[in-house]
Amino acid sequence: MGNVVTDDKIPNNVNLSGDKRLQRALEAWQPQFIDWWKQMGPLGWQEKDIYLRTAVSVETDGWAHFDHVKMPDYRWGIFLEPQKEGRTHGFGDLYGQPVWQEVPGEFRNLMKRLIVTQGDTEPASVEQQRDLGATAPSLYDLRNLFQVNVEEGRHLWAMVYLLHTYFGRDGREEAEELLARRSGDVDKPRILGAFNEPTSHWLSFFMFTMFTDRDGKYQLSALAESGFDPLARTCRFMLTEEAHHMFVGESGVQRVVKRSCQLMKETNGDPRSVGGIDLPTIQKYANLWYSLSLDLFGGEVSSNAADAFAAGIKGRYKEDRYDEHKLVGSHFAMDVLEGGKVVHKDVPMRNALNEVLRTEYIKDCQRGVDRWNKTIKDEGVDFQITLPSNKFHRQIGMWSGHYFAPDGQMIDQATFEARRGEWLPNAADETYIKSLMKPVYERGKMANWIAPPAKGINGLPEDFEYVRLP
Ligand SMILES: [Fe+2]
Ligand SMILES: [Fe+2]
Repeated sequence: MGNVVTDDKIPNNVNLSGDKRLQRALEAWQPQFIDWWKQMGPLGWQEKDIYLRTAVSVETDGWAHFDHVKMPDYRWGIFLEPQKEGRTHGFGDLYGQPVWQEVPGEFRNLMKRLIVTQGDTEPASVEQQRDLGATAPSLYDLRNLFQVNVEEGRHLWAMVYLLHTYFGRDGREEAEELLARRSGDVDKPRILGAFNEPTSHWLSFFMFTMFTDRDGKYQLSALAESGFDPLARTCRFMLTEEAHHMFVGESGVQRVVKRSCQLMKETNGDPRSVGGIDLPTIQKYANLWYSLSLDLFGGEVSSNAADAFAAGIKGRYKEDRYDEHKLVGSHFAMDVLEGGKVVHKDVPMRNALNEVLRTEYIKDCQRGVDRWNKTIKDEGVDFQITLPSNKFHRQIGMWSGHYFAPDGQMIDQATFEARRGEWLPNAADETYIKSLMKPVYERGKMANWIAPPAKGINGLPEDFEYVRLP
């Protein structure tokens, strides 16, 4: 097992041809994947040449190979970070013992559930975004959308590789189910809530890649610490791709914010009058996607999280930063709901690990929001985008079923419903944003509601032909 990528049907650095049974199983899954991609992937763009980055090896110079390619010909492959000799469990009850190269029987179900749940998000987001190609604000953005889409497809491959390799028949069945569920489908929905929400326009797409893909970063980081070594190595490589998705989101919103400020100045504060997006509306979409993404971390106090940590399966974000890795007898101070009131108290650390991870995520989101606010300030506009309280608009965990204002104040349901449209996008906002979504497919041109990017892809100019149109 190494860095050499074989030239098989399925590009890989896991010596797939050395395991004929596995190779046959994955080669049988491959056409099903392509069928799913053609059916549920970007609508109307399958035959076009797109300037895409393809991983051809895990070496620093090999994982970012750029060329024009038709999406169904994209080389979806299996890439794991090279194995490190002598790696040991970095946390949990087995701290310091050699990591596993196979799944231990007692943790099989827990591990399978984590892999399936992660795997399910990957095709879900492709499905959520499949219509966006009809309305991209530029060829640069169109190309970025497809880059994110093909890489989410590759992330599905990464999880399916683990299911096929380590979970036998069950794993193969789960891999088929991953292609059978559909985002937003009443009968066969995707597993997690945020992945069933429509991403019906580009402002939601940028918010999704800013906030929801960033949840992915934190989940993958926690799994990258895993004592199940193949899972850790898979997630480490996925993280290199994930960084670009968050760049698309953060810089996308930043460009919308910038344009909003410019149009405000041109119109005496009313960018909507000239087809722009106003800052308060941007704030509402941030509130929506941020709160949906907070749900993805799961319950605030969780015995599942404690079990996964104890077992050495799911660690913390950058476990190396901590001195203590067993977390027996330590506590985390956090808000909890007791007798209908919010109280701040110590929770046993292992049970608080979802909240610990969510806290790291929140800090990371705040850094991005700070950069948006710097753009607003640089434009000379007096406005700040803020992240709402982690209790606002939650559907999962302790705060769901209770009502909070964006500032974290507990309110009653009637008040929340009365003010919902101020805090979250309402039907009129949706209609307005959708009305702006007209494709701009002339090289170097940009829709009026968004500023051009600071620079092009791979050192190329902004007016490069990122997508070849006939
Ligand atoms: Fe992903
Ligand atoms: Fe992603």
